Amino acid sequence: MAFDPLQERGIPLDEQLRNWRELNVTPIDPDHADPYTRCRIITMNGIEVEAILFSHQLARHCPDLEIKQQLARVRYIEAQQQKVVNWLLPGLASVLETTIAYEQVAVDLTAWVARMEPDSYLTQAYQFGVLEDFDHLYRYANLYEMIEHRKAEKIVDQLTEVMPGRPTYLHHRDPKDNVRQPYDRSVTEPLSRLHALTIMSAEQQTMNFYMNVGPMHMEPIARRLYQEIGLIEEEHVTHYESLVDPGESLWEQLLNHEYNECYLYYSFMETESDPKVKNIWELHLNMELEHLRLAAELFKRFDGRDPDQVLAPALPPPVTFEPNKGYIRELLATQIDCTTLGTGYVREAHERFTRMQEAVMGGEKPPSEQVIDDNRAISGREYRLETEGPHPAGLQLSR
Ligand SMILES: [Fe+2]
Ligand SMILES: [Fe+2]
Ligand SMILES: [Fe+2]
Ligand SMILES: [Fe+2]
Repeated sequence: MAFDPLQERGIPLDEQLRNWRELNVTPIDPDHADPYTRCRIITMNGIEVEAILFSHQLARHCPDLEIKQQLARVRYIEAQQQKVVNWLLPGLASVLETTIAYEQVAVDLTAWVARMEPDSYLTQAYQFGVLEDFDHLYRYANLYEMIEHRKAEKIVDQLTEVMPGRPTYLHHRDPKDNVRQPYDRSVTEPLSRLHALTIMSAEQQTMNFYMNVGPMHMEPIARRLYQEIGLIEEEHVTHYESLVDPGESLWEQLLNHEYNECYLYYSFMETESDPKVKNIWELHLNMELEHLRLAAELFKRFDGRDPDQVLAPALPPPVTFEPNKGYIRELLATQIDCTTLGTGYVREAHERFTRMQEAVMGGEKPPSEQVIDDNRAISGREYRLETEGPHPAGLQLSR
């Protein structure tokens, strides 16, 4: 039966607070956990971080004391949820291992969203971005082999391939060309709003993560690679956030945020293989139903509309982590040489792009190319995980 979060009853806000014992969850086993369980954890952490940051921004624009207090109460629960979710990650995993898992999320979540997105302009934006995070995965996998002497298949298993995408050095575009056109809130499918919020939040968390952990590495090549890819994640946040219609009021945005949290917890509850983690998704879903009810009240009061006018009548099919190898290979064969110009896409290196490239390269090889050279020198070949045969673009993609 279709699940309509607006019709379901959740846990009353007063009963959502957890004590230290309840917050102290047992992390997943880094060696035996389903890689897609780890992907769901990383995704939900990004969603909760966005819930917290958005609520803070909203509070800073809100003159009404009582509403500010209500936002603070819900936000504290979001903060507890973020702690529970992110603390499912094991301390045993290294920063670089977690990084590889972040890029696996970017690949398989974005590919899923691209496949399900009903709007062709938005689909193009996801297809464009996924080939870049796919390449980041390959660069970090080579760094991992070089400095930790392990192979990325230990983390991604055989679920996601590791090989060149659009080469990372070509991702450094003039910032002006990273801004896309938004969807139109008056005609868009409700699913498109959810997709844009989900990918924006995941990329924002990746950006924040690289900002913070990049300088914690000792090896110069690792420090440099995190700087380079960290700047691309800034570009990705710009790219995806610009898809959201800025004409949505803050109350409409709050409503979309809470609805999307319901959608994703529901999706992951339906698809989770680890029973302990599944219990957490279910508990958090029941909390989010109440957050949604409160957001819907604020929306009715300040926006003067009914939530049914902007939300779907029931949840769309669950967001699913699954291999997207064939889909990615198709994109590699057809879109590897794309870049952006203004809000559109082109295949040639235009003047503004070339100027940006010259400015950031400073006449040297970028870290993302150096890391492949260095690993070839040490391991005798670069690291790839091509489970479905040779690279579909068939190119030597090195600079
Ligand atoms: Fe939440
Ligand atoms: Fe990335
Ligand atoms: Fe990214
Ligand atoms: Fe929430």
